[in-house]
Amino acid sequence: MIKFMKLRKLGLLFLIMIFCFEVNVVAFEVSVNGSCQIDGVEYPGVGFGTYPLQDEICEQAVMDAANLGYRIIDTATFYENFIPIGKVLNLMGRQKFYVISKVWPDAQTPTLMVEDLKRTLNQLETTYLDAYLLHWPNSTIPIEDTLQTMEELRSAGLVRHIGLSNVNINHLKRALEVGIPISWVQIELHPLFCDFTLLKYCQENEITVQAWAPLGRGRISDDIFLVNLGIKYGKSASQVAIKWILQHGCIPLPGSKNKKHMQKNLEVNDFTISAADMKEIDERAGIGKRERITEDIGLGFTDEFDFSYEACWPKQ
Ligand SMILES: NC(=O)c1ccc[n+]([C@@H]2O[C@H](COP(=O)([O-])OP(=O)(O)OC[C@H]3O[C@@H](n4cnc5c(N)ncnc54)[C@H](OP(=O)(O)O)[C@@H]3O)[C@@H](O)[C@H]2O)c1
Repeated sequence: MIKFMKLRKLGLLFLIMIFCFEVNVVAFEVSVNGSCQIDGVEYPGVGFGTYPLQDEICEQAVMDAANLGYRIIDTATFYENFIPIGKVLNLMGRQKFYVISKVWPDAQTPTLMVEDLKRTLNQLETTYLDAYLLHWPNSTIPIEDTLQTMEELRSAGLVRHIGLSNVNINHLKRALEVGIPISWVQIELHPLFCDFTLLKYCQENEITVQAWAPLGRGRISDDIFLVNLGIKYGKSASQVAIKWILQHGCIPLPGSKNKKHMQKNLEVNDFTISAADMKEIDERAGIGKRERITEDIGLGFTDEFDFSYEACWPKQ
């Protein structure tokens, strides 16, 4: 009897663990054929970025991407393109897609975030987001309040997974202390720049990285080193960049309005970058420069990449 009780307790514990895992953390894996699994559902490992596409151009691009097989779609309130994306998602079948959106730094208070998500879902004509991320950190809004609100939205079924974007390792350490599981980190990541300290920390904490500007916003195709590497593998420099990101276990989110480019960006499953070449690309990326949001850009905030642990969401 005691044995049976113990087994029952263990079984219950196991079920709770599975439940917590499924609802909180992305069970994510990139396979050798370039596809990825998110909570057991298979998607192409390469996602589709939608900035700065808007209106009919956006609708056409997302339609082309969806027809080519893209299933992970990245957007944000800042991009102002929910309506055209929503049209395509609903035409093709919403459940086929993994949709990521991001809330702007001025709307990360509990009330404003709830409003942001409500507007996002209305415009996308959907009842849920697959991932909801903080677009840029705003250390003036307590992270406890922000994450608690995101967690409530998740519990209510409006958001499946929670994430951060444009953070450094100090932000992530600080955010994880709140105790609410974080599934994703979206950062600038390409062969001309990589924050390896953060990447390693994410991997140690089972947080998957989504790579924005995987093609360095188009700069990759002019990089002679990568062009030559591409020739060696019978690929373009852009395809090498995408593959390098996948081989690091991250999800590249290339953006394009050109159907041929979209197709090429998916054709990365028939080659493998050697360990020696990976290392050489890593070395260049490790000393590269990232894009910065400075005051003169005029977005009304500056990035927090140089913030110390104490400066990231100071404790109250
Ligand atoms: N979290 C953030 O703060 C943040 C910031 C920036 C971006 N993002 C996300 O990341 C996505 C990707 O970033 P991004 O679009 O800025 O940069 P990107 O994907 O690195 O580069 C896009 C540029 O590369 C060109 N391109 C695409 N495929 C190509 C190919 N095979 N060969 C040559 N050129 C190619 C595109 O032109 P064509 O249209 O002519 O193909 C476009 O000009 C965005 O769409 C957005 O969803 C997030």
